[in-house]
Amino acid sequence: MNGSALEQGFYMVAATLFVLGVRLMGSPARARMGNWFLAVGMVLALGITVVFVPHFDHMLVVLGVMGLGVVAGVWSGRRVRMTAMPQMVALFNGLGGGAAALVAAGSLPSVSHLTQWPALLTMVLGSLSFGGSAVAFMKLQEWISGRKYGGLWRGAGLAFLTLAVLWCLYAGVQARLDLMAGVTAMGGAALAGALLAWPIGGADMPVVISLLNALTGLSAAATGFVLQNPLLIIAGTLVGASGTILTQQMSRAMHRSLRSVIWGSHVGQTAMSTVPEAVHPITADDVAMMLRYARKVIIVPGYGLAVARAQLEVKQVSDLLEGFGVEVLFGIHPVAGRMPGHMNVLMAEANVSYDRLWEMERINPRFRETDVVLVIGANDVTNPAARTAAGSPLYGMPILNVDQAGTVIVLKRSMGRGFAGVDNPLYQDPKTRMLFGDAKNSLATLVRELEGIA
Ligand code: TAP
Repeated sequence: MNGSALEQGFYMVAATLFVLGVRLMGSPARARMGNWFLAVGMVLALGITVVFVPHFDHMLVVLGVMGLGVVAGVWSGRRVRMTAMPQMVALFNGLGGGAAALVAAGSLPSVSHLTQWPALLTMVLGSLSFGGSAVAFMKLQEWISGRKYGGLWRGAGLAFLTLAVLWCLYAGVQARLDLMAGVTAMGGAALAGALLAWPIGGADMPVVISLLNALTGLSAAATGFVLQNPLLIIAGTLVGASGTILTQQMSRAMHRSLRSVIWGSHVGQTAMSTVPEAVHPITADDVAMMLRYARKVIIVPGYGLAVARAQLEVKQVSDLLEGFGVEVLFGIHPVAGRMPGHMNVLMAEANVSYDRLWEMERINPRFRETDVVLVIGANDVTNPAARTAAGSPLYGMPILNVDQAGTVIVLKRSMGRGFAGVDNPLYQDPKTRMLFGDAKNSLATLVRELEGIA
């Protein structure tokens, strides 16, 4: 077997690992194995590149930089809290897009007539993704406001930047791929990405993040054409395709069209607050009694549960209630938390069985026949304003219909708002009771009270 055949064979193995890994990620039970497949595939891909690429100059520098990347990746992967995972994904996604754009820019002076367009496409898409992801990162990190800004100046800015990028690309090609024009186009595209992501917030953030992910994948695939590297084409296409499918699924789950997410056409100027003042606090012992004598209980976890790291306490409450003969289900909203599948991961950590985790469409008809709903650190995904308040950034987003249950108990620390930054009229509903405090403490008290009743 000659070098090239061996190389192609390894490429095939790595590509198969990528495809199988993505497939395994589709099931919570096998996601961990899927992650391993993808990691091994990536190590193999890097190894093949280092071993087989001809005339690999500056090997020491390359290995040093790769080592730095590995250390930074392992360090941040270990240190990052589950609740900060979306920021990390946005950051890594942006870095991927930026890296693809830089590689394409670096190869611009030597590209052939055939690969000049993929190179320019990579520079634009990668920079767009970099700029958008940087803004998404800062929003998720709460360095800049998640609220919506937009309007005419944004449209005009985007139109200007689009024209500027196109002109730079044209000038670049005319001047035999002039690097300066290419780099200016990259700057324009990065600014356009930032401007695109700037006003998007509230329930639309997950859609934007998956869209940026798809863009990074496409730019990596285009880099594969530039470098004539089949594995990069396959890996980039996988990321691009899965990001596109995720974007579609997220949009569908949010009842949004992609156009309306990007242009914010469903959003009015201000978030309406129809909230009257009174709320009804409750104590943990009263909640324990209510739960003990309920027949059906639904637990709705949200971002606050992840912040409080209260998944084990939730499982204890659910076990104790089941011991009393209460039927307990978990209602999972598709964008609860801060990343797709966030609540599934938390509940899996606590060993809640998958058949108890019901998706929104399946659980919603059950609320009417449920005695008590326990909403734990979830806000936006239960906000009835999403059905009625046309000016709200949540308007049109399907919610968990917790307000249709007999009693709603909400566990949160204060009257603080959720990610979308709007008031939640659920808290003033006469059937709602508020158990204020950190979710972990409140649930631990609830466990003690329930054990006391037993
Ligand atoms: P949120 O609407 O963000 O509400 C979380 C609530 O948890 C807050 O109101 C907060 O109120 C409470 N909280 C925070 N820390 C707590 C603690 N230690 N103990 C008890 N409560 C605590 O959460 P959600 O309902 O899960 O909705 C998710 C939101 O994030 C949606 O708007 C969604 O669009 C957005 N988003 C989702 C994703 C994905 S893919 N899932 C990605 C980006 C953005 P207090 O401060 O009063 O305690």
